[in-house]
Amino acid sequence: MTDSRPLLFFDSGVGGLSVLAPVAKLLPQAPLVYVADSAGFPYGTRSEGEIAARVPALLGRLAERYDPRLIVIACNTASTIALQHVRAALDLPIVGTVPAIKPAAELSETRVIGVLGTEATVRQPYVDDLAARFASDCTVLRHGSAELVALAEAALGGEPPAPERLRAVLDGLFDQPGGERLDVIVNACTHFPLLEAELAAAAPHPVRFVDGGPGIARRVAYLTQGQEWPGALPPGRAVFTTRNARTDALAPALARFGLTVIESL
Ligand code: DGL
Repeated sequence: MTDSRPLLFFDSGVGGLSVLAPVAKLLPQAPLVYVADSAGFPYGTRSEGEIAARVPALLGRLAERYDPRLIVIACNTASTIALQHVRAALDLPIVGTVPAIKPAAELSETRVIGVLGTEATVRQPYVDDLAARFASDCTVLRHGSAELVALAEAALGGEPPAPERLRAVLDGLFDQPGGERLDVIVNACTHFPLLEAELAAAAPHPVRFVDGGPGIARRVAYLTQGQEWPGALPPGRAVFTTRNARTDALAPALARFGLTVIESL
């Protein structure tokens, strides 16, 4: 018996590759479909209503087309807003990506942590809840940046970010009261781990970064344990909701993640 159903990863852009990579490493036998909602990108500057309407509908179409065994919403913005709506609408396991505040609080020695996400994510009640449950003895600084999302997309397309732009984004955290003691930053947008080394180099003092990728990989392995996989691994598929020069320029980077077939929804 073999089972060729893929794992489907969903994000607005290329950020979810930072989640796909640790999952693919842990489950090298898993067929992969990676979907970037390029027609809806970016999510971080959209309203809650727009995300809550768009994401479940799109995932419904994708589930029909690709018949995945499981969906990973590899986007903090979509997960903190629409995870419950998606779970209610679809009859298959849905793994969300939410800010890794718990591991950050476990690591912090100074008890000051930063949450770096999109503007939409950092204002979500979901983040208030995570901070109250897991970091109640920490000062939790938050900063939302659409620019950092754009810089990560460009970096994957081959244009490295200017360090001073990264420093200006990080100032949004470090310049807040308590920022001089900040020792752990949650990459609360899946685009940001793609720039982690550059962000670390641009920070005014040494900090550690955490994100949800490793925890999600363990969760997906747990949810699929005992399942069959295909005898021969099919090529990974990247799907864009609209294709243009920007998405086509990503082909070499996608190939580095094993995604060699590119198509439109
Ligand atoms: N990668 C997404 C996240 O984790 C959103 C980026 C965007 O489209 O603004 O929040």
